[in-house]
Amino acid sequence: MTAALLDGRLLAARIEENLRAEVSTFGEMLGRRPRLAVVLVGDLAASGSYVASKRRAAERVGIDSLLVERHGLVETNELVELVDGLARDEQGPVDGILVQLPLPPRVDTVAVLDAVPPDRDVDGFHPVNAGLLSQGRPRFIPCTAAGVQRMLIDAGIETAGRHAVVIGRSDIVGRPLALLLSGRGAGGDATVTICHSRSADLAEHARRADILVSAVGQPGLVTADMVKPGAAVIDVGINRVASASGGSRLVGDVDFDAVREVAGWITPVPGGVGPLTVAMLLSNTLLAAELRLR
Ligand code: GUN
Repeated sequence: MTAALLDGRLLAARIEENLRAEVSTFGEMLGRRPRLAVVLVGDLAASGSYVASKRRAAERVGIDSLLVERHGLVETNELVELVDGLARDEQGPVDGILVQLPLPPRVDTVAVLDAVPPDRDVDGFHPVNAGLLSQGRPRFIPCTAAGVQRMLIDAGIETAGRHAVVIGRSDIVGRPLALLLSGRGAGGDATVTICHSRSADLAEHARRADILVSAVGQPGLVTADMVKPGAAVIDVGINRVASASGGSRLVGDVDFDAVREVAGWITPVPGGVGPLTVAMLLSNTLLAAELRLR
């Protein structure tokens, strides 16, 4: 059996098409476009490229973006003040504020993220939004977790009553995704196991999964013997590894070639979950703009 490919680019393009129309309606009502502020700190090439792709996507659907960059030595309080200033619309009206992670090690990431007001927290990282999600009344859902759920719903992959295993317990992906999959309604009602670096016998847990999600960042973590035949395998990992030609290439956490012979569905890397993360960010930004009208 060869798994069906879950094409994130195609789905993201469809979502963007709908968003473009909604953004345009919003613009007609308010006389301005929704606006997203993106804070990029440090010199990580990967972060720079993610931010560029988020801004290009915003442009495609008619959302304005403001890039605020800080390089060199940066202190926590400087970043908190920067976010506070954005929240006071000091650089023009801003509907959504995103602080690209990771921040440099010397910076207190939690303090900076907590400075983003919950009603502009398009990443869904603020404790208020995390709390609302955990109570089953989500407002801003972390983008990658929302994207994975959207992908399952769109592909018609049943989650109700199924066993989902999420490898990774991060606040960005693993934990919110486990909440979504175990919550009520479409793309939910699953029985969920969260595995992490201290889990005993990861392979045994994984083999019981109807839906297996890996969000760790470890190439080759999920091998074919860990996958139940016919399972949906969702690869959230993005890892840059050396390629045979001497350059580098992107791979996920899943041993793609071997696992696709066992799984029922599989996401490629790149072109799987990544584009959906961006589409969900755009959707959250429109929601933030609409919330300001209420
Ligand atoms: N770095 C990796 N993933 C994310 C994300 O979803 N949001 C932000 N802000 N930074 C990230």
